[in-house]
Amino acid sequence: MKFTRCFLMLVGLFFVSCTSIETFPPYQKHRKRTEFITTGSKGMISTSHRLASKAGLDMLKMGGNAADAAAAVSFMISVVRPQSTGIGGGGFMLYFDKGTKSTSVYDFRERAPFKASRDMYIDKQGKPIDFIYKGHRIPNASVNGHLAVGTPGLVAGVIEAHSKHGKLSLAKVIQPAIDTARNGFKVYIRLAEAIKRKQQVLNKFEASKKIFMPNGRPLKVGDTLVQKDLAWTLEQTKKHGRDGFYKGKVAKKIVAEMKRGKRLIRKNDLIAYNVKTHKPVVGTYRGHKVISMPPPSSGGIHIVQILNILEGYDIKGMGHNTTKSAHIITEAMRRAFADRAKYLGDPAFTKVPQKGLLSKQYANKLRSTINPKKVASSKEVGAGTPAAYESPSTTHFSIVDKWGNAVSSTQTINYTFGSGVVAAGTGVVLNDEMDDFSKKPGVPNVFGLVGSEANSIAARKTMLSSMSPSLVFDKNNQLLLVVGSPGGPTIITATLQTILNTIDHRMPLADAVHAYRIHHQWLPDQLFYEQNGLEYNTILDLQKMGHKLTPKDAMGSVQAIRRVGKKWVGVSDTRREGYPLGY
Ligand code: DON
Repeated sequence: MKFTRCFLMLVGLFFVSCTSIETFPPYQKHRKRTEFITTGSKGMISTSHRLASKAGLDMLKMGGNAADAAAAVSFMISVVRPQSTGIGGGGFMLYFDKGTKSTSVYDFRERAPFKASRDMYIDKQGKPIDFIYKGHRIPNASVNGHLAVGTPGLVAGVIEAHSKHGKLSLAKVIQPAIDTARNGFKVYIRLAEAIKRKQQVLNKFEASKKIFMPNGRPLKVGDTLVQKDLAWTLEQTKKHGRDGFYKGKVAKKIVAEMKRGKRLIRKNDLIAYNVKTHKPVVGTYRGHKVISMPPPSSGGIHIVQILNILEGYDIKGMGHNTTKSAHIITEAMRRAFADRAKYLGDPAFTKVPQKGLLSKQYANKLRSTINPKKVASSKEVGAGTPAAYESPSTTHFSIVDKWGNAVSSTQTINYTFGSGVVAAGTGVVLNDEMDDFSKKPGVPNVFGLVGSEANSIAARKTMLSSMSPSLVFDKNNQLLLVVGSPGGPTIITATLQTILNTIDHRMPLADAVHAYRIHHQWLPDQLFYEQNGLEYNTILDLQKMGHKLTPKDAMGSVQAIRRVGKKWVGVSDTRREGYPLGY
């Protein structure tokens, strides 16, 4: 028995280390394999920056648990990925407690300010408005500038989860981030690209310009990014806990910044910010338990809904990214996203038919509408507008500690550099999460997503998200996978396909993460596929069936951990940066 188990473990590890690099998408071929796949027997951390993984690992080695590591990672990633996330944003976190076998869900998403209202981004003619600042017209007010900002939740959420589950002090877990903000770190390719891309907006706001475009020019690769004001804000948080951010000197400066933009967030919004806890979404797929994020995310519901539909097919038998499997998976995705547009929103404001959407019977019904040879009728699908390119923002990280506790967390300021506004004197990049609301039924947001009344804007409401931090348990109810991704709506489909690749195609984790992906979000009516990810004949066959195909560079960027025998394997998707570290 022991021998068999050892043998199976060795076979598992052999597969993990034999993953063929040639099958990976060619995004970062220059990177060494050891930089994005690693193993460890005690703990594992996969994040989108080496310094963040290191901060987390240091906590584990100091005797901290997954919650301590998660807090250290959250603060550090806020410093080193200011284009993606930060303490001016929000996120979701799942904490799996091995002792009680229970999963706690933390929702520290931004909330609409008290002053927000349904049509705030629409003019009298019903057209989306621009933001006017000091005489400058900045396009798209729900994305750029002060009006786009939702009340940030990240500091409150991270501190709350940490104080419930962590063992180390807040001072310990926040210190690495303070040091890195104060001393600086080297600007890397994606950060330099993001500054360059957003420079027209960053340029308009003095505090943003000072940090990211000193001397009026965007920072370049190899420059050192020093964030002294951010170090001060983190110090205030270290000293006073959540009040250090939501009350006192930092809050004053945030409110002053909002006034400068003559916009929404006031003292009361910050004081009233509350972290929410929810029951997780729980589903099953071929005997595996899947735990994921409930509303106000759409992620968990739709991952489980799509898995429920796909359970009725022999996905493995169809093969990976073949005409058959791509067609069926696409049709399942399109049905789930159609439901997302109609039913999903903040559960405190709208009744989400969660039970119905998650039921196997409903999946059977949807499955029966799928024609294996043809796409659904265009009447059912409707007309769309092409999605904008994917921004390099948002971040996911996965953590497991030596006790078997785990954290799966996705955090964001939404689009690249959020609103582009730094609250002067704080170093805090403010989010543009308000764009995740449906500003008008049927009008697509920056990710091409449409919504209905369920996701309309209201004071204190939470905007709908696609962020899908997830956990998968094997048939013996042992933690198998910690997984999630950035990428707007592709978060859902990237996380889904990593699960399918693991369970159906039995791929080792590095392959499951790196295998080419497809994506369909109902509207626009496009089947997106990663460049080179489908055979030419498959593309032709899918077109014959009625699919409208569009190639994309890369979709999502998964940070995952998998258990193989008694070891943990950590993988960081090479589609963007990332670095797993274990011990
Ligand atoms: O919550 C959401 O669904 C979005 N704000 C996430 C944005 C995102 O992933 C941008 N990344 N590439």
